[in-house]
Amino acid sequence: MKKKSMRAKAKKTTVGMVDADVLAYTAGDDVRLDAALVEADCLGSAAHAIMLSRIPIKPRLFTRAECRSIQDALRHITESSRQGAFRITVEDQDVHLAIERVLTKKLGVLGKRIHTGRSRNDQVATALRLYGKSQLMDTIKEAADLAAALLDFATRHSDVPMVGRTHLQPAMPGSVGLWAAAFAEGLLEDIVLLINAYELNDQSPLGAAASYGVPLPLDREMTADLLGFSRPCHTVLYAIMARGKMESIILSALAQVMLTLSRLAEDLILFTMPEFNYFKLPAEYCTGSSIMPQKQNPDVLELVRAKTARVLADAHGVCGIMKNMASGYNRDLQETKEPFMKGFDTTRSTLRILRGLLEGLAVNEEALLNGFTPEVYATDWALDLVAGGMPFRDAYDHVKQNLHALEQLDPREVIQKKQSLGATGRLELESLYGRMREALAWTHEEQREFAAVYKRLLGISR
Ligand code: ARG
Repeated sequence: MKKKSMRAKAKKTTVGMVDADVLAYTAGDDVRLDAALVEADCLGSAAHAIMLSRIPIKPRLFTRAECRSIQDALRHITESSRQGAFRITVEDQDVHLAIERVLTKKLGVLGKRIHTGRSRNDQVATALRLYGKSQLMDTIKEAADLAAALLDFATRHSDVPMVGRTHLQPAMPGSVGLWAAAFAEGLLEDIVLLINAYELNDQSPLGAAASYGVPLPLDREMTADLLGFSRPCHTVLYAIMARGKMESIILSALAQVMLTLSRLAEDLILFTMPEFNYFKLPAEYCTGSSIMPQKQNPDVLELVRAKTARVLADAHGVCGIMKNMASGYNRDLQETKEPFMKGFDTTRSTLRILRGLLEGLAVNEEALLNGFTPEVYATDWALDLVAGGMPFRDAYDHVKQNLHALEQLDPREVIQKKQSLGATGRLELESLYGRMREALAWTHEEQREFAAVYKRLLGISR
C-alpha cells in the first residue's frame, strides 16, 4: 500500500522516476533562476556541438550540416527565451535538461547525442562563467559610468569649500571636489578588483564532465576558444571545484563596490539633513510620508546601506556553503546560484540609481560656507607659526591655548593653499579621469568580443 502511494507520487524525468516532493525540493529555485542561464547554456551547447563535429571520433557524432541545425535550434531557443516563451518545468529540473528536451523534440537523435562527453556539472559551471563574464563586463561599465558622474560632480564643484570631518567632527578645510573625487577613486579601485575577478572567471570548465573528464578526445582548448574564454581551466577536477569559489570571489568584489556606495549614501543622508543642508537630493529621488505632508525622505540611500549588508552576507554565505564540501561535484553548489545572481542585480541597480541621483544633486554653497567656524583653521594657524620658525609642538600648544583668538578666514582662499598632490588646491582630476576612461575602453572591447561569440555560435546579437 505504502509502496503504491509512493509510486503514484513519482514523476518521470529525463534521468529516471523521482518522487514529486523530492523533485520539487532538489530542483528548488533552479526552475525559476535558470531562466537567466538559457543564453549561456545555448552558447555552451553550440560550442560543444561544434567541437564534437570536428574531433576524430568514428563514426562522426555530427556532420557539419547537423551541427548547423543544432545551432539553429539553439538560436531559436535563445530567441524564445528573450520573448519570455521558454519554459523550464520541474520535471526538467533545470535549464540544461530543458534545452535537451527541446532539442530532442525538434531534432530527434541529434538532440539525444548532444550530451555526449559532458555532464550537467561542467555544463552549469560553464553557463555560470559565461553569465558571470557578461554580468561583470556590464557591472564594470556601470561602475565606470558612476565614477565619471562623481568626477564630473567634483569638477563642477572643485572650488566649493566643504568642512572636512574626522570622527564626524569639524576638522580642517576641505572641498566638495575633494569629497566627490575621493569616492570616485574608491570606485576606480573597486573596478580593479572586478577586473581581477573577471580575469579569474575567464576560463572554461567545459569538457571536465562530471569532474574527471571522459575517455573521448574532447578538445577543451577549442571550446574555450569558441566561447571567447581566455583559456580552459587546467585540471578537470578544479574546473568543477572552482564553482562556488568563483561566485564568492566575484561577490567579494561586488561587496567592495557596495561598501563604497554605502558610505557615499551615508554621507549624503547626513549632508542632506536640514541641519546640514549642504546638498539637496533631486525631488524625484525622494519618497514622501503617508502621514507627514512635508517629508522628503532619502529612502533610496537608506536602501543602499541595507542592500550592502545583504551583498556582504551573501558573499559570506557562499563561503559557508563551500567550506566543508568534499572535492568533486556536490549538489550544495546549486544553492550558490541565487546569491550570485542577486549580488549582480543589487550592485548594478545601485550603481545606476546613484548615477542618476548624483546628476541631479544640488549643492548649497551658502550652507557649506556657513559650516566654516574659526576652529576649522586651527591646524592651518599652527602650521603658519611653524613656517615662521616655531617647532610644531610649541605651535600646537600655542593655538590650543588661544582657540578664542582664531579668526574667520575666506575658506575659498584657504583651500587653494593645499598644493600637494590630491589636496584641495591640486586635485588633478585628469589622472582619475584617465583611469575611468581606461576602464570604459576595456569594457567596450570585452563587450565587442562577447558580441562576436554570440554571432559566431548562434548567429544573433548579444
Ligand atoms: N542544477 C544543478 C546545479 O546547479 C545542475 C547540476 C546537477 N548535477 C548533478 N550531478 N545533480 O548544480
